[in-house]
Amino acid sequence: MPPFHAPARYFEIGTGDGRSALLVAANTPASTQLYTLDPGYPSEPIKGSVFRNRPEAAKIEQLSGSSLSFDFAPYHGQMDLVFVDGSHALADVVVDSHTAFKLAAPGARILWHDLLYDSCEVIQAIDVAGYAQRVKKIAGSAYGTCTT
Ligand SMILES: C[S@@+](CC[C@H](N)C(=O)[O-])C[C@H]1O[C@@H](n2cnc3c(N)ncnc32)[C@H](O)[C@@H]1O
Repeated sequence: MPPFHAPARYFEIGTGDGRSALLVAANTPASTQLYTLDPGYPSEPIKGSVFRNRPEAAKIEQLSGSSLSFDFAPYHGQMDLVFVDGSHALADVVVDSHTAFKLAAPGARILWHDLLYDSCEVIQAIDVAGYAQRVKKIAGSAYGTCTT
């Protein structure tokens, strides 16, 4: 079974209210460790609010900071599943896309959100970053995906 089907570790760039982190936490083994990063945590209570008072929160470590300056080195090569859903500005998604590949363990799955239309900045950024041939849009969704 590919490692991303039962990821040992998951990293999400852009926690938001935490609904995706909760979805992953609720559908992965009890041993899965989730990390989720947002510059609004902990000053903005909404960040992670969807999972905060749920049992799944025990699997989730909320990290504070911007993906443009955060030190990802301790997490490099360790993630079986990476979700890129932070800033949607072209230059930032380029940085986050490179970061996602650095975070990924061999055989990992990377997901990008908000591939909304052909010329959107997320799609442009994946192209600028040099991953256009590797990232496939999931039909009928706003997700792009790639296996490392
Ligand atoms: C669309 S929301 C994320 C939704 C969340 N991933 C989910 O599916 O539940 C985008 C989030 O990215 C955060 N964000 C913006 N720039 C960021 C950056 N440079 N690094 C990390 N997070 C960032 C925002 O604060 C916001 O909470």
